[in-house]
Amino acid sequence: MSERIDVAVIGGGPGGYVAAMRCAQLGLDTVCIDAWKNSRGRASLGGTCLNVGCIPSKALLESSEHFFQIKHKISAHGIHVDGATVDVPAMIARKDKIVTTFTTGIASLFKKNNVKSVLGTGKLLKRSDGDDVWRIEVTNGDDTQIIEAKNVIVATGSAPRQLPMIDIDNEKILDNTGALALSEAPKRLGVIGAGVIGLEMGSVWCRLGSEVTVLEAMPDFLMAADQQIAKEAKKIFSKELGMAIHTGVEIQSIAINKNTVDVHYKDNEDQECQLEVDKLIVAVGRVPHTEGLGIQENGLEVDERGFIVVDADCRTNLPNVYAVGDVVRGPMLAHKASEEGVSVAELIHAGDSERQTDINQVANFNTVPWVIYTAPEIAWVGQNEQTLKEAGIAYKVGQFPFIANGRARAMNAGSGFIKVLADAENDRILGVHMIGPHVSELIAEAVMAMEFFASSEDIASIIHAHPSLSESLHEAALGVNDRALHI
Ligand code: FAD
Ligand code: NAI
Repeated sequence: MSERIDVAVIGGGPGGYVAAMRCAQLGLDTVCIDAWKNSRGRASLGGTCLNVGCIPSKALLESSEHFFQIKHKISAHGIHVDGATVDVPAMIARKDKIVTTFTTGIASLFKKNNVKSVLGTGKLLKRSDGDDVWRIEVTNGDDTQIIEAKNVIVATGSAPRQLPMIDIDNEKILDNTGALALSEAPKRLGVIGAGVIGLEMGSVWCRLGSEVTVLEAMPDFLMAADQQIAKEAKKIFSKELGMAIHTGVEIQSIAINKNTVDVHYKDNEDQECQLEVDKLIVAVGRVPHTEGLGIQENGLEVDERGFIVVDADCRTNLPNVYAVGDVVRGPMLAHKASEEGVSVAELIHAGDSERQTDINQVANFNTVPWVIYTAPEIAWVGQNEQTLKEAGIAYKVGQFPFIANGRARAMNAGSGFIKVLADAENDRILGVHMIGPHVSELIAEAVMAMEFFASSEDIASIIHAHPSLSESLHEAALGVNDRALHI
C-alpha cells in the first residue's frame, strides 16, 4: 500500500473497528490494522471483546445458567429433570461458533463500509520534522509493509495483569483466554481476584459443578459497586451458588504440582492458609497494551500506569494521533471504547479544529453503565452511596426488592433489589444500582434518565408495563419520596 490514506486505525477491537467503520462511513479512506489471529492463523477481528472477552464469556454464562437452573431451580416450577448432564466440549464449541460468526461479521462489515483490513502488528515509525504523514510499519510473520496515513487512531486495548510469582500457562494457571476454553469443569477451581472476570468466570464453572474458591485482596467485596449491592451479591453467591469467597487475603506463593496448584496466602486475620486446586484463574485486572507500538521512538506520552495520555477528545500529545478504548483512561468497557471510536472518527472528519476543552466531550463516564453478568446480574450507573458520602452530597434513597415484583416472582427470580439515589435538594437522579433478574437490560432506562437529567419524580410518573421487572425501578423511584405502593 503506497498511497497516503486518511486514517490508519491500529487495533481491531470495539474501539478500533468501530472507529474504522465510522471513518469510512464519513468518506475517509481508512485502514484497520489488527494483529489478532485465530487458531488457523487467520485474522479474527473484534479484539478482546469478541475473541476472549464479552461475547464468549456471555455465551458460557448463558449455557451454564441453563444447566444450573435445570439442576437446582427448575423443580420450583413443577418440572423434574433427573440425570441432567453437561457436555462441556459442546458448550465450548457453541461459544466458539458464536465468536466466529461475529468476528467474520466484522470482516463483512468492513467490506460493506470500504474499510481496508490489514493483518499484522502495527508500529509507528519515527516521524521526521516537517513530515505531514505518519508511517506505520505492519509486520505479519516475515512480511512487512508500510502504510502512510494522515491520521492515526491507536486502539491497541489491554492485556491481563500478571502476578509476579507465577506465569500464566493456560493449562493450570489461567487468564481469561484459558478460563473460556476448559474441556471439563475442574473439580476444584481457585480464582484470584473477585472482580468482574473472577466473578463471571467463577460463576460459569461453579454452575457446571466446580468447587470454586475466590481469593480477593481488598478487605471488602466488589468495592467499585454500591456496598449494599456488593453485600447482597456476596450473600447470594455464597449461599445460593456455593462459591467460597475470602476477602482481605494476601497471596504469598503459588506452586504448580503434577496435578494440582497450591496457593499459599494469609487470610484477613493474618493466618497462614493453603488452598489446593486443580486449576487457578488469575483475574487481577488488566493493563494497557502498547508493546511494540513505537511509543518511545515518537515520545508518545503515557502515564505512570502505562495508559496513553489523551485529552477529553482522545487526542494524544502527537499531532493527528488519537487513542481510544482500554489503552486510555476511563472504564475498560467495550461500549466506552466504541463510543470513543465514533467520536474520534467524527472529529477527524470535521477537520479537528483548534477546539481544546476540559469538558469530557467523548463519553460522560458518570453515565457509562456497568453490568456484571452473574446470576443475579448486577448493574449500576452514576454515583453510589460511598462516593456520595465521600463528596458530601446530600441524597435520598428509594429501594424496591424483586421479591415484591409480580413478574420476578412468576419467574422464580425474586432475589435482589433496585436502589435509586437522588439529590436531596432537587431530586435529580445521581445513581441507580441494581441486583436481580435481567438488570443488564433494566439499567438502560436509568442511563437514559440520567443523560436527560431526570429526577426520581420523572421516573415515578412514567407508566411502566404490568407485570414487568421494570416496575421495580418505578417503585424504587416512587420510594425516593416515600410514595412506593407495593411495599
Ligand atoms: P481490545 O478489544 O483489547 O482490542 C485491541 C486489539 O488491538 C486486539 O485485537 C489486539 O490484537 C490489537 N493490537 C494490539 N496491539 C496491536 C498492534 N501494535 N498492531 C495491531 N493490532 C494490535 N466489556 C464490556 O463492556 N462488557 C462485557 O461484558 C465485557 N466482558 C469482558 C469479559 C472478559 C473475559 C474480558 C477480558 C473483558 C471483557 N470486557 C467487557 C472488556 C472489553 O473486552 C474491553 O473493554 C474492550 O475489548 C476494549 O476494546 P479495545 O478496542 O480498546 O481493545
Ligand atoms: P477487576 O479490576 O474488575 O478486578 C480485579 C480484582 O482483583 C480486584 O477486586 C482486585 O482487588 C483484585 N486483586 C488485584 N490484585 C490481587 C491480588 N494480588 N490478590 C488478590 N486479589 C487481587 O479486573 P478483572 O476482573 O481482571 O477485569 C478487568 C476489566 O475487564 C474489568 O475491570 C472490566 O473493565 C472489564 N470486564 C468487564 C466485564 C463486564 O462489563 N461485564 C466483564 C469482564 C471484564
